[in-house]
Amino acid sequence: MKTSEIRQKFLDFFASKGHQIVASSSLVPGNDPTLLFTNAGMNQFKDVFLGFDKRPYTRATTSQKCVRAGGKHNDLENVGYTARHHTFFEMLGNFSFGDYFKRDAILFAWEFLTSPQWLGLPKEKLMVTVYATDDEAFDIWNQEVGVPAEKIVRIGDNKGAAYASDNFWTMGDTGPCGPCTEIFYDHGEHIWGGPPGSPDEDGDRFIEIWNNVFMQFNRDETGTLHPLPKPSVDTGMGLERVSAVLQGVHANYEIDLFQALLKAAAREVSVPFSQDVPSLKVIADHIRACAFLIADGVLPSNDGRGYVLRRIIRRAIRHGYKLGQKGLFFHKLVADLAAEMGGAYPELRERQAVIEDALKQEEIKFAETLDKGMALLEAALAKGEKELDGKTAFQLYDTFGFPLDLTADICRERELTIDQAGFDAAMEAQRAQSRAASTFKMSGNVDYSGDDTCFNGYDLVSVDARVLALYKGHEPVQTLAEGDEGIVVLDSTAFYAEGGGQVGDSGEISVAGGIDALFDVTDTQKLKAAVFGHSGRVARGKLSVGDAVTATIDLHKRAATTRNHSATHLLHAALRHVLGGHVAQKGSLVNFERTRFDFAHTGPVTTDEIAEIERAVNRVITHNVEVSARLMPYDDAIRAGAIALFGEKYSDEVRVLKMGDFSTELCGGTHVKRTGDIGFFKIVSEGGVAAGVRRIEAATGEGAVAYVQAQDSLIRDAAASLKAQSNEEVLAKIGGLQDGVKALEKELARLKGQLAASAGDSLAEQALDVGGVKLLVAELDGADNTALRETLDKLKDKLGSALIVLGSKADGKVSLVAGVTRDLTARFKAGELVNHVAQQVGGKGGGRPDMAQAGGTQPENLAGALASVKAWVEGK
Ligand code: ALA
Repeated sequence: MKTSEIRQKFLDFFASKGHQIVASSSLVPGNDPTLLFTNAGMNQFKDVFLGFDKRPYTRATTSQKCVRAGGKHNDLENVGYTARHHTFFEMLGNFSFGDYFKRDAILFAWEFLTSPQWLGLPKEKLMVTVYATDDEAFDIWNQEVGVPAEKIVRIGDNKGAAYASDNFWTMGDTGPCGPCTEIFYDHGEHIWGGPPGSPDEDGDRFIEIWNNVFMQFNRDETGTLHPLPKPSVDTGMGLERVSAVLQGVHANYEIDLFQALLKAAAREVSVPFSQDVPSLKVIADHIRACAFLIADGVLPSNDGRGYVLRRIIRRAIRHGYKLGQKGLFFHKLVADLAAEMGGAYPELRERQAVIEDALKQEEIKFAETLDKGMALLEAALAKGEKELDGKTAFQLYDTFGFPLDLTADICRERELTIDQAGFDAAMEAQRAQSRAASTFKMSGNVDYSGDDTCFNGYDLVSVDARVLALYKGHEPVQTLAEGDEGIVVLDSTAFYAEGGGQVGDSGEISVAGGIDALFDVTDTQKLKAAVFGHSGRVARGKLSVGDAVTATIDLHKRAATTRNHSATHLLHAALRHVLGGHVAQKGSLVNFERTRFDFAHTGPVTTDEIAEIERAVNRVITHNVEVSARLMPYDDAIRAGAIALFGEKYSDEVRVLKMGDFSTELCGGTHVKRTGDIGFFKIVSEGGVAAGVRRIEAATGEGAVAYVQAQDSLIRDAAASLKAQSNEEVLAKIGGLQDGVKALEKELARLKGQLAASAGDSLAEQALDVGGVKLLVAELDGADNTALRETLDKLKDKLGSALIVLGSKADGKVSLVAGVTRDLTARFKAGELVNHVAQQVGGKGGGRPDMAQAGGTQPENLAGALASVKAWVEGK
């Protein structure tokens, strides 16, 4: 049975048992900062289990894309070395949300696996485990299903803590969890390994194929279990493992789907195909994880999810390198993967080009350092030590882009270990060094060690302050004179320093006490975490350290920037609403003119989606909901559902910015009091900036009005130049023009043809006599295929007995036609004649013995090719 059939059968079986078939969710979990990647079918139902979310169904079934790399469930290190581990795999699951519980879950699983109508696995090959204290599950298996007691293994807390057990499943450190019962398949005595619970359980003989979790608890940060509102069921059947069983093979890599990928990997790496090359398995596994992750908007980067992806890609590249492939190859496997899996997961086909491009870029990047890094590593390993020193591992990481697990992978192949402590120490030393450097290298390269600045700018537009330090250029000075450019540090300020995507404020600092001195602030940047540097120029008088001053922001610019910033939060929320929870912020820039927002999403945002996003944002603006900012501990904020940027470092106390129920984000920026202050929101552009990253630019308030007015006047100008009576008439006018152009083009083509045909008449006179055969070869300027054929027919009539070859060129292409009158077809074939010419102009053709046509792509060779016909005829 093919893998794709098993997938379908599973869904059909559970649909027949009243389950709703639900699509796989994205590999990037929607707004769940506790989870790196979707690692189980239940992820998308987490809130349903917890009772926070309700669905219109109580039974569901899915085929879920999963990645287990880099997070709590991490299989990366095992890939290629065991028969059953993958970074990416498909989990088939059935779910009950407070509907059926243990009994039905067990009976369903057994029926699907063993019934001849479904998978028909031999019962005697199966055995099960239950959580040690779960007598209920034990009894169902034993008494109702009829599994003999010796084939039911009780597993307790075998992982060293309460509820840390192979038979107590938890999604992560927190979240829904519960005892489980697992089903194992015995691949037979010829394979090493023992039954679950035995010392040899890690072998490949007994393979877990299905896990049925009885979701009963929510686990909090302290490890305490709280009962869920309703006992539920979450199951997961590994598709690749079950395929192996049904296809009578032992390793997942031997199933149909992987055979195709292994062959493709062998082809691209240029090695003979073999079932037993671990590096080919690694490549075949990794192309799946990488392609699916990129399809879901993850891109290689240096932190968070992007870094896990980078690690997987580089590991695959290194395995290709190990097999001797030093060129780019990995991205070429995407097409093979799309052919295998694109039917079930259309995103692979839709985003194939984006995936290929992202992988290729990463291959090009790593190619720059891989060779040198390998040389460094080989030199270090040549010393013969049993352990690679931490300094070298760090140098590989830091300078040559070798993720630590890649280095570990190489060491493991040679049965060596890595000095992890030494690596950590080298990493820490470098961090300390860059921290030290940053106290000197602050923005603008100034050296400051005085007091902090107190920021009052959330509430005030102007504050009285004292000058703490001055810099002319980067040098500390006591006084800045008129015309000097420099940086001013104050003890308190209303100026927002650039951060969180929002630009720094501009404005002015005036010296208090009637002294006519003024410093124009053009930008504000943080010199250190809480030290604000106001940069600009002394417009009048002078400014000295110790001066009492008044610092006033440019309120007009700040208000516009603030509107744009608040609108950015609404835009972010609307994007997730309209496009899906996978939309993750990749960057933003907010100034007084506009907001620019980059986010993970593959494929353009459609015009309809843009319109819907605009409507959603403007609706919240119209509702004029209150905007509130609150400081709270980070964990509380996340629990309250605040969106945090993945991989971003936050301090323990964070500022939570809430706009009604529509948006909750961690943000230190300045915001409107109520959403109505934004006035009006308009998207002005949408486009791609990198593989899988889109950019939207938008304007608010007066900026948005100005934009709409400019568009409006554009249409009015267009209407005027088209002489349309109204804007609405513009399209009709353009349509009219297009129709007119089409008609003219047609007429032009017809006339050209006529011209060519009439030229044909006079051509007859140019026929040559070649050994008693009349031959006419001519180039007809601008004639298309039809004109060539018509001319040919006329010439045949006129000449009575002849060989004729006509050619023409247009738009970089050549058209050819050859004719042989009936009396000569025994000696000359029109097809051969036309091909003789065609092959000289990069083309090929064919037809009947008396008439044949061809095309070509090298117009520059046409004259020569036609000239050669005479010799061809003579040679016959
Ligand atoms: N969520 C369960 C698992 O991943 C079914 O094993």
